[in-house]
Amino acid sequence: MNTLWIKQRLKIVGATQEQLAQAVGRDRAVISRILQGKQPLRLDWVDAFAKVLQISADELLRQSGLPTGGPGREHNPPRPRIIVGISGATGVIYGIRLLEILRDLGVETHLVISRPGVMTIAEETDFSVAEITARADRHYRIGDIAAPIASGSYRTMGMIVAPCSVRTMAEIATGATSNLLTRAADVVLKERRKLVLMVRETPLHTGHLRTMTQLSEMGAIIAPPMPAFYTRPASLADMVEHNLGRVLDLFDLEVPALQRWGE
Ligand SMILES: Cc1cc2nc3c(=O)[nH]c(=O)nc-3n(C[C@H](O)[C@H](O)[C@H](O)COP(=O)(O)O)c2cc1C
Repeated sequence: MNTLWIKQRLKIVGATQEQLAQAVGRDRAVISRILQGKQPLRLDWVDAFAKVLQISADELLRQSGLPTGGPGREHNPPRPRIIVGISGATGVIYGIRLLEILRDLGVETHLVISRPGVMTIAEETDFSVAEITARADRHYRIGDIAAPIASGSYRTMGMIVAPCSVRTMAEIATGATSNLLTRAADVVLKERRKLVLMVRETPLHTGHLRTMTQLSEMGAIIAPPMPAFYTRPASLADMVEHNLGRVLDLFDLEVPALQRWGE
């Protein structure tokens, strides 16, 4: 994307990055990342950007090198989609923060929370369920097995269960799924898409370990939320951020602030 053109246009019309941020309801840091080429411009933000830059949306698409199209924006490719599952293991903050990061990366999120997940949210955080579902593009009831994500014909990049309880993990491993979260995970596996399970339990018995091996053999990625200390985390938030950044690496999604060894 030709971000230089957008920067020059900002100067010409005397507008600021702050105005772009306000137009799309995001922080200036997000705009800065887009203009540095570190993050793609969300296609549903094109109209708001075009207004600030005082040009048509098609002109913006043309000048910035994004594909243009006819009326009704048929040219817009669908945004990448990721399903986020929050189950009843401790560490629901992983799922909540994941939704926020994916939103900033322009990924469409589809959220499903198990009933014990709702309980752990209440135990561990001050968020209401509504505040969490508001962070997702779409959310579904745990019993809604007719939801789009229950079908392989609904295309997604895959699914992240954050955190993943042992019960949910075991159910996914058997294929005998009893709710939308595990059904969606089963679909992701059968379609050979990416399934990442942030399994949280300790200590683990041999049955847990065998189930993990079985899932890994089936194509799932077992990614327990284990902190890295080489980044010298100053807070729990730092640890959560690093863990999630490494999980999103698996989807080739770049979290700009991720501290990497050797860089
Ligand atoms: C506060 C709290 C923390 C829990 N932590 C864990 C955990 O870390 N790992 C786990 O496997 N289960 C944990 N559980 C138990 C699960 O919630 C329970 O097994 C539940 O049946 C899982 O259902 P789900 O997989 O449908 O979410 C926890 C329960 C509560 C209330």
